[in-house]
Amino acid sequence: MAILIDETKKVIVQGITGREGRARASLMRDYGTNVVGGVTPGKGGQEVLGLPVFDTVGQAVAALGPIDISVLFVPASLVHDAAIEAIEAGVKLVVLVADRVPVWDAMAIADCAKKHGASFVGPNTLGVISPGRAVVGMIGGRAESARAWFKAGNPAGVGIISRSGGMSSSTGYYLGQAGVRISTICHVGGDAVLGLRIPDVALMFEADPQTEAIVIFGEIGSSQEEDLADLVRAGKVTKPIIAYIGGKAAKEGTRFSHAGAIIEGGKGTHAGKVEALRGVGAIVVESFGGLPEATVGVLRKLGGKSLMTEAEKNAVWTTAVTKIEPNRVAVRGYDIAELMGHVSFGAAVYLILTGGLPTAAIGKLMDGILVSSIDHGATPPSCLAARTVASTGASLSQSVASGIASINRHHGGAIEDCARALGKLLADAGKAGQTLDEAAGAMVADIKASGARISGFGHRIHTKDPRTARLFALADEAGLTEGSARHVAAARAVERAFAATGKPLPVNVDGAIGAILADLGLDPRVFNGIFMIARTPGLVAHVTEEQTREKPMRRIDPVNHAYDGPPVRALGT
Ligand SMILES: CC(C)(COP(=O)(O)OP(=O)(O)OC[C@H]1O[C@@H](n2cnc3c(N)ncnc32)[C@H](O)[C@@H]1OP(=O)(O)O)[C@@H](O)C(=O)NCCC(=O)NCCS
Repeated sequence: MAILIDETKKVIVQGITGREGRARASLMRDYGTNVVGGVTPGKGGQEVLGLPVFDTVGQAVAALGPIDISVLFVPASLVHDAAIEAIEAGVKLVVLVADRVPVWDAMAIADCAKKHGASFVGPNTLGVISPGRAVVGMIGGRAESARAWFKAGNPAGVGIISRSGGMSSSTGYYLGQAGVRISTICHVGGDAVLGLRIPDVALMFEADPQTEAIVIFGEIGSSQEEDLADLVRAGKVTKPIIAYIGGKAAKEGTRFSHAGAIIEGGKGTHAGKVEALRGVGAIVVESFGGLPEATVGVLRKLGGKSLMTEAEKNAVWTTAVTKIEPNRVAVRGYDIAELMGHVSFGAAVYLILTGGLPTAAIGKLMDGILVSSIDHGATPPSCLAARTVASTGASLSQSVASGIASINRHHGGAIEDCARALGKLLADAGKAGQTLDEAAGAMVADIKASGARISGFGHRIHTKDPRTARLFALADEAGLTEGSARHVAAARAVERAFAATGKPLPVNVDGAIGAILADLGLDPRVFNGIFMIARTPGLVAHVTEEQTREKPMRRIDPVNHAYDGPPVRALGT
């Protein structure tokens, strides 16, 4: 499970067009975060990394649906307005990276968050990372380094809460070196007024079944560690706690690096915190270097699953797709023998691409998508390429690979292109405050005026593509109705707009698949891959037929061929 962030959370970046926002959006996405767009006032309509940019969070929500998390790469003086805008637009977790946010602003944000049932991390936070799943903020830097440093908390891990940004990463790194897996690392931020504090995050770890123990990098100043001790005493936090408290040498009134790390009026001392935590049974180490060993000791006693084996510790790279052990194969964590016979191929494709199993209806919809594209006659480039190569005496793999190699932007690529065009239409409608029909009308007028083409609409052969109606019916059964499925609704609006011009151009199978996959939240970068997966059986059939029925090096006429298979028949006959 992990806490606060995982790959299922929809994330936007406020300040995405700025220096850090742009760079970090890219890094977060590389790590697996589901970044769906960004916001910068005055820059709505632009794209960053192919993601839509909106003028306001409200417009982003209108176009993209509810947003779980917004991470703000907005300079300190502008954080107040940006955070309140996000909370008022319904975002339930806001991550405030900026340094030097005025204390009064942080208090006002806290007030607003409380009113709206939202939370925030920071200000002055490096962010939150659930290793192997997703990150918000800047923890871990490049995806490769983050993957190498922090060991994914699968099947279990320790939760880390830190008051220092740099030490969040160091704590995660040294625990990883000692073979300790991590569920989530949360840097609560270094300021005096914070959103989520150590005790709040500890309660989340307590409730998280994946977290076996809690590691704290504390500091002098504030009452966060003492409040945590109170929660332990009250029986509200029961998981083992291993802590290090920085700032032992600091004198009263001296700020210890962070704004919140200051002893005032004899409160928040190093000795007081150590005593409070030890008094409730927590292990508090004297030096930071002792933290990994102490954590390993606790985990050994616990007999939990957060400790890695020697082989896992020595691994130089990781994959989150499959795990092979003697007599066991796990795909995205599920035993393959258990999946076999219980989930359909479509559901398994969804699982391997997204990391999670779909509902039964979405699995059926995925099957529908794969079946719809299994073949489309002998004339598409992939079939001609595969048959032509097969006729030269090439092997099955060479011939099928040639067919696959022809699946590109203009063959199968309409799925992704259409999804992106519909996404832009939604963004434009949100920005201009238009209904989908108004925005689609404007889009179709533009297309007509410029002579441009839109992918996913119209077909060379079919005026009423039989596959499209069936896919939309399956999408409906899966709960992707026009009301909830925004891309499907946009596709329908474009269809209506074309019909209104007197020259109807119905959505075709590629457009339907693009709209549905976008509404299912799949990454557009895999759309062409889904088409390849679907078309491969058809290519194998064509290549085998070419090899067994036809003469080598024949002239393949792309048009003049006839069908001699069984007559069209109903299922069950
Ligand atoms: C937040 C911070 C990273 C931003 O730095 P930056 O990316 O260099 O700043 P930029 O000016 O390039 O970008 C900020 C963007 O926010 C945008 N912005 C301003 N107000 C906004 C708002 N209300 N909503 C959305 N975006 C907004 C700006 O327009 C700008 O985008 P633009 O350049 O396209 O106009 C920086 O101010 C900071 O605080 N750095 C320290 C972070 C840190 O160390 N944190 C603690 C870790 S332990």
